Amino acid sequence: MLSFKKSSPSDWLASQNKYQSKKTSLKAKTISVTAGKGGVGKTSVAVKMAKVLADSGYKVLLLDCDTNLSNTVVKLGLPITNYFYELVSAQREFEDCLHRDGHFHLLSGCNGSIDLFNKNLEIDKIIIDILVNHEHDYDYIILDCPAGITKETLTLNAYSDYRFVVVTPDKSSVTDSYSLIKILNKEFGVNQNHLLINRVSSEPQYQRLVKTLSETVETFLKCRLHILGGVKNEESPVDQFDTILLHKENSSLHKNFVKFVKKFTDEIEGEAIVARAQLASRKTKRLEHEVHFTA
Ligand SMILES: Nc1ncnc2c1ncn2[C@@H]1O[C@H](COP(=O)(O)OP(=O)(O)O)[C@@H](O)[C@H]1O
Ligand SMILES: [Mg+2]
Repeated sequence: MLSFKKSSPSDWLASQNKYQSKKTSLKAKTISVTAGKGGVGKTSVAVKMAKVLADSGYKVLLLDCDTNLSNTVVKLGLPITNYFYELVSAQREFEDCLHRDGHFHLLSGCNGSIDLFNKNLEIDKIIIDILVNHEHDYDYIILDCPAGITKETLTLNAYSDYRFVVVTPDKSSVTDSYSLIKILNKEFGVNQNHLLINRVSSEPQYQRLVKTLSETVETFLKCRLHILGGVKNEESPVDQFDTILLHKENSSLHKNFVKFVKKFTDEIEGEAIVARAQLASRKTKRLEHEVHFTA
């Protein structure tokens, strides 16, 4: 007699749901932080999210996909290296290219490397290779994407499990994000994205943007936007922004990020529980069918 037959598979699964660690699945969830437009806050969002996730106990790899204009190291105040070039030219192992800080790992890019420039690499293939080889070592892999809507960047966006589209309230940013979502939909069949509004000045402005973008994307593209939230425009001098973002834990900026990262991880863990319950249910049905068949 199989004991788990007494309760439904989903009940049984829920009762087993005592996480030893924060690991949500066997394979990392990949998130592209993207926008089309430059300067809207992609790198700020990617770095901060990666840090908040790592501080919450998840193992995180941040991949700087702006491979020859790497801003992640700059934001974090780390030394610039040529490791990415050394990695792609097989001079250095992946593990020796990482910057590690607890659960947070970073693979940065180069900064104006002539050697990398002349190598003419297919960056999407290289990044996907890295993802495939290391997806079992992390809970989350975050891709800090470059500006522009090149085929390479869009391929990476489409390959990712989730896309966080960063938009600022100016018209060009809104238009560019719509163009990105449109091409992702028409060329790659992507119909779900997450939206994060950065540099928000007021609640009405935020609500207006969420409504306009969600409705436009739904009406014209039949796509869904999951709303992550808004990040307010920090009024402090530009050269102090990174310090406030990454080192001031009592700032509203920090609290804002903690809030939307929690919202997102809750959403993912909810999805994972449902998926496991469905799998268990399918297995139980198959088993019952087999038992019935051999009886
Ligand atoms: N919420 C914000 N409030 C104020 N300034 C911001 C905010 N987010 C980003 N910035 C500013 O915008 C600059 C560009 O951000 P960055 O993350 O490098 O954008 P991207 O990666 O999209 O090019 C940052 O250096 C910072 O000065
Ligand atoms: Mg950037």
